[in-house]
Amino acid sequence: MQVVSKVNELREIRRTWQSAREVIAFVPTMGNLHQGHLKLVDEAKKSATKVVVSIFVNPLQFGPDEDLDAYPRTLEQDKQSLAALGVDVLFMPNAEDIYSRGLEQQTFVEVPGLSYMICGASRPGHFRGVATIVCKLFNMVQPNQAYFGEKDFQQLQVIKAMVTDLSMNLSIHGVATMREADGLAMSSRNHYLTPEQRKLAPSLYAIITKMTHEIESGRRDFTNMLTEAKAALIDNGLKPDYVEIRASNSLLQPGHEDTELVILAAAFLGKTRLIDNIQVKI
Ligand code: PAF
Repeated sequence: MQVVSKVNELREIRRTWQSAREVIAFVPTMGNLHQGHLKLVDEAKKSATKVVVSIFVNPLQFGPDEDLDAYPRTLEQDKQSLAALGVDVLFMPNAEDIYSRGLEQQTFVEVPGLSYMICGASRPGHFRGVATIVCKLFNMVQPNQAYFGEKDFQQLQVIKAMVTDLSMNLSIHGVATMREADGLAMSSRNHYLTPEQRKLAPSLYAIITKMTHEIESGRRDFTNMLTEAKAALIDNGLKPDYVEIRASNSLLQPGHEDTELVILAAAFLGKTRLIDNIQVKI
């Protein structure tokens, strides 16, 4: 595996691949890799001939009171895992190169609508930061395909919308959420949980799973369901941020014609904010 930090080096490698007609898959990450990330790499390897993974903790997507400095960094371990999987290039740019004119002056990409609702309402500017860095990384790597986890369901929709709106020439693939044995969605932020909080955390998934079964059995009083789910989160020791049932393609409130829904939830355990979602067909 080649480890590259400068975009010129990456472009040079990209040029040789281009002439050999390689199919390039890209997995952007912020590092602290877990099985969920490694599954993205596995999927990427299945359909491409070259795989690039990036590790970049993107300051632009963190709010002023969020965990940018504390975000877990496990570079050596990450490198070993990626090399063992046969990744071709690990791209690890530094923030000064990525945002060379400074964060204040940075041109940004904003996907309106989708970026302002649900997680975007709780984290103003977050999806602008995500869309901007993903657009920049796409311009640097120039992949044919890119892979994202469905755990960040709204992020995936924002990126798909950006690719459509800006006529970007690549395909976007969502990969199913990897879970711990007790159902908790794998996430780098799970490391922040104390042993007591870790025991409480799986109730987030359990509560939205129960909602899924109820919808599949015909329940449609969504307003009551959301109130019950928030109460259940509180009963289980979590502080709800939101619980929503939305149309899965638009993330808008579902109409009678919508048959593909997604239940999305976020809740705090102490300072740690957990998110999860389940797609449900009716
Ligand atoms: O999902 C993430 O890890 C990040 O939001 C991403 C897509 C790598 C952009 O920084």
